[in-house]
Amino acid sequence: MKSSKTQVAIIGAGPAGLLLSHLLHLAGIDSVVIESRSRQEIEATIRAGVLEQGTVDLLAQSGVGGRMQREGFVHQGIYLRFAGRSHRIPLTELTGGRSIMVYAQHEVIKDLVKARLEAGGKILFEVRDAALYDLDSAAPKIRFHHENTLHEISCDFVAGCDGFHGVSRPTIPSRMRTEYTRLYPFGWFGILVEAPPSTDELIYAHHDRGFALVSTRSPQIQRLYFQCDPQDDVKNWPDARIWEELHARLATTEGWKLAEGRIFQKGIIAMRSFVAEPMRYGRLFLAGDAAHIVPPTGAKGLNLAVNDVRVLSEGISAYYKNKSEELLNNYSATALKRIWRAEYFSWWMTSMLHRFHDDTPFHHRVQLAELEYVVTSRAKAITLAENYVG
Ligand code: FAD
Ligand code: DHB
Repeated sequence: MKSSKTQVAIIGAGPAGLLLSHLLHLAGIDSVVIESRSRQEIEATIRAGVLEQGTVDLLAQSGVGGRMQREGFVHQGIYLRFAGRSHRIPLTELTGGRSIMVYAQHEVIKDLVKARLEAGGKILFEVRDAALYDLDSAAPKIRFHHENTLHEISCDFVAGCDGFHGVSRPTIPSRMRTEYTRLYPFGWFGILVEAPPSTDELIYAHHDRGFALVSTRSPQIQRLYFQCDPQDDVKNWPDARIWEELHARLATTEGWKLAEGRIFQKGIIAMRSFVAEPMRYGRLFLAGDAAHIVPPTGAKGLNLAVNDVRVLSEGISAYYKNKSEELLNNYSATALKRIWRAEYFSWWMTSMLHRFHDDTPFHHRVQLAELEYVVTSRAKAITLAENYVG
């Protein structure tokens, strides 16, 4: 067995784990990141696309925002589309100058991996069988296999940044955590398309066949989603059927046209709301999807992960700087405030925009009344805008 030491052992090289390692490095704190997948795999996994103003600011201030600022797209509004018409929510005007950035999560991952490796940071890819020990002591450990060798790392803290299916959360004894869950009876079918943009800002569309979303990645590549059965198989969706469904759900009476192109990626994601509390057990701190999940309708998941590690890195820094554990002791409560607000917002957007299997005509009309209220009341539009830009 190969033994080593670090200050913070980080499980998972998603946005949470990589950014935590980067922020700790800036504060002079040593960490090791272990990741079960390869570098190529994490840099190619297609996920989120919308960064809140606070996320953009933190990436820029911490020196990893250069490419994002050159290649990302600042959006100052979104469209809500229902009953065949589009209505713009002017995010920037309603929030006193805040905006969002459309920049893909895997590009953020590439920027963070590059920054860590260039600074001599340690990221071990393709590790197997990670396990956590002695979390309720002052000297926790993690063990795992890497390149056919068993490794043990002793540390002061373990950060569980290993996503919803990771090992960190289940390691906490079940009597020490409370979990809140809501599963939605639908998923999202996501595609990447080689086509010019059909819109200058994202379109969130309500339709009686179900929700649809038009997003972007670049002037040449577009990202589209539509509500589907979570058990469905991408094989059931040849390109022609996808276009037919998107055209139907996005149809307007305003002469708008959806640009088609070559579909080069298809996937289905399940939708759930989930929170595990508290986000700490002894010397283990959970961050990001390891502790909470939101349905993607509010574009909050990645942004919550970033906020968690901002709070956590401040707590760990204070511990080493002035031996103060106060921020660490408050970590879970501080992060959970923001998390529950985003849970509420994501649940609200999801409920307002999707078709539910037990929908009645009454429910459908109430959804339309709420959407009409959002686009005609400044107060209601501000509520959406404030939560969306974060
Ligand atoms: P993850 O990204 O899941 O990273 C966890 C890492 O840990 C992974 O690399 C995994 O391989 C690794 N790991 C797991 N288990 C182990 C183990 N045992 N040992 C070692 N490593 C392990 N969010 C937004 O903010 N805006 C959006 O627009 C948005 N859109 C989305 C669209 C889609 C289609 C999806 C699927 C998600 C979207 N999200 C969005 C959510 C966002 O992608 C996640 O919230 C985000 O990835 C969470 O980051 P994380 O680092 O906590 O977890
Ligand atoms: C994207 C994803 C989202 O969940 C969302 O609400 C908006 C955009 C995207 O992948 O571009």
